[in-house]
Amino acid sequence: MADTTKTATLTIDGESYELPMHSPTAGPDVVDIRKLYGQAGVFTYDPGFTSTASCDSTITYIDGDAGILTHRGYPIDQLAGKSHYLEVCFLLLYGYLPKAEELEAFETTVTRHTMIHEQMHNFFRGFRRDAHPMATMVGVVGAMSAFYHDSTDISDERQREIASFRLIAKMPTIAAMAYKYSIGQPFVYPRNDLDYAANFLHMCFSVPAEEYHVDPILARAMDRIFTLHADHEQNASTSTVRLASSSGANPFACVAAGIACLWGPAHGGANQACLEMLKEIGTPDQIPEYIARAKDKNDPFRLMGFGHRVYKNFDPRAKVMKQSADEVLDLLGVDDNPTLQVAKELEKAALDDPYFTEKKLFPNVDFYSGIILEAMGFPTSMFTPIFALSRTVGWVSQWKEQLSDPQMKIGRPRQLYQGADLRDYVDIENR
Ligand code: CMC
Repeated sequence: MADTTKTATLTIDGESYELPMHSPTAGPDVVDIRKLYGQAGVFTYDPGFTSTASCDSTITYIDGDAGILTHRGYPIDQLAGKSHYLEVCFLLLYGYLPKAEELEAFETTVTRHTMIHEQMHNFFRGFRRDAHPMATMVGVVGAMSAFYHDSTDISDERQREIASFRLIAKMPTIAAMAYKYSIGQPFVYPRNDLDYAANFLHMCFSVPAEEYHVDPILARAMDRIFTLHADHEQNASTSTVRLASSSGANPFACVAAGIACLWGPAHGGANQACLEMLKEIGTPDQIPEYIARAKDKNDPFRLMGFGHRVYKNFDPRAKVMKQSADEVLDLLGVDDNPTLQVAKELEKAALDDPYFTEKKLFPNVDFYSGIILEAMGFPTSMFTPIFALSRTVGWVSQWKEQLSDPQMKIGRPRQLYQGADLRDYVDIENR
């Protein structure tokens, strides 16, 4: 942590406290309040952590006002355009762009871990066929703790690395199996001759009865979706993984907790909710009604795929996603997709409306991703599992970083208690 000579002064009841400050490589300075309670006997109050840095990290940086996202310093649009998912995984995990032989070795390692223990197939069969694939993933990923005992010792650096490989490699297999189970088709084993994205498409869409050819352009689009979701610093699910891990829990349990958090519609579940919203709007003439509803304080409806806690400008991932949506639909020969048309007109209508511009609400990564995924053949229920598999490398990288941080402590927020004061128990006959 880079120290500055700056300090902040907090005055409480006429008494002043000097608080140290830290300067990041980029972004606002941070006031260090760790000793505040010990010195002044007060807590800080920040529900939703809108002004609180929970850790120091070297992985990902977001400048929300400028609409910039970087991983290890590299801008996301360059990574999405020039790199590919497994190279980005290496970058997130190790902090630098690999040399060709390092990348090859990494890809081979990930590929060799793609199968799951055969007995784990029984877990899938224990779920109802109509279970949401995210429910299945929470259960099956948590259950990895019961199968891969040789990579649950978090004090062993090599075991941590193996757990990382396993999670990155097996997540597509688990997501694809959850999908196959939900539609009553046989599980498809991974194919090590295919790249990461092509293998996922193969596991989702091939059937034993006939040959399935993975279109390389669709595989590239899939890979780009994985890349765009790979990490996003201390978002809700990543913070959940870090909080779970702070107690010393094993990596599979921590990532299962992250998947559970991601599922909500304010976070990763927004991609499913967004496509469902676009379909419900149906035609551009309905847009004014939905814009009016989104602005109405008495209506809980929000424009899904719009707004972000950190971005107060265009989400750079949304820009790439919009371009990808055009390319994929073009490739598939869909020139008049009604959902894409509604999405584009809704975006335009919102950005012409002072409600959205004044509150700095712009399309986020989830606004266009569902259109691409649907065009590829995925049902809406698979959108969030695809987000989860893409984000696994982010969770794992942040988890590894946390475990090697000498400042790591169990995460234990305090509270502003507003409940009853101390009182005596009243016997039931006297209440
Ligand atoms: N539609 C209409 N109004 C909105 C929206 C929206 N999508 N998002 C925020 N607002 C309004 C909100 O009502 C509030 O107004 P006011 O100040 O008058 O009370 C103001 O904007 C600030 O909103 P907030 O809820 O305090 O902001 P937040 O930082 O707590 O929430 C958010 C961020 C992403 C949860 C929120 O914008 C939202 O619910 N968006 C829709 C869901 C969504 O697309 N989520 C995906 C986020 S990106 C991918 C990911 O993280 O997984």
